[in-house]
Amino acid sequence: MLKESIEKALNDQVRVEAESSQVYLAMACWAEVKGLDGIAQFMFAQSDEEREHMLKLVKYINERGGHAQVSALAAPNVTFGSFQEMFEKLLKHEIFVSECINKLVEITLDEKDFSTHNFLQWYVAEQIEEEAVARTILDKINMIGDDKGGLYLFDRDIKQLSVESSVAPPTQN
Ligand code: FEO
Repeated sequence: MLKESIEKALNDQVRVEAESSQVYLAMACWAEVKGLDGIAQFMFAQSDEEREHMLKLVKYINERGGHAQVSALAAPNVTFGSFQEMFEKLLKHEIFVSECINKLVEITLDEKDFSTHNFLQWYVAEQIEEEAVARTILDKINMIGDDKGGLYLFDRDIKQLSVESSVAPPTQN
């Protein structure tokens, strides 16, 4: 049975993951209307992944005798000044999510909930990977700058990246 404080903290993270899914969905839409299908595809896949992160938490809360909450979400940013700005926001957002996960892990230690602490290790590892991907992409975008040809090639390459990650075996469960 989950302690009330743990259930609340986990439900807060359910909201963070759901909001992350919306953040990337908005980025996907913006890229799609700008005609950059590779970037859009990557962002749609990111949005789906965040929903998976949310569902994993939802199932854990319900299985442990809690009640997962579906709450109102903050509206995401829907327009961006540039692709560079959009990818900067992506990295910033992932750093924010990592901080939330770290706080959550700290609460489980304070409360001596070692099962939830163990469950959260998957998220700790996932955040390392997500931040690394966001940093790599941002480095590339910064190199491209305003070069339209470079952006065209980047859009083509990132499409390949999302195809590869969608066929890769699932890392969860
Ligand atoms: Fe679920 Fe990208 O953090």
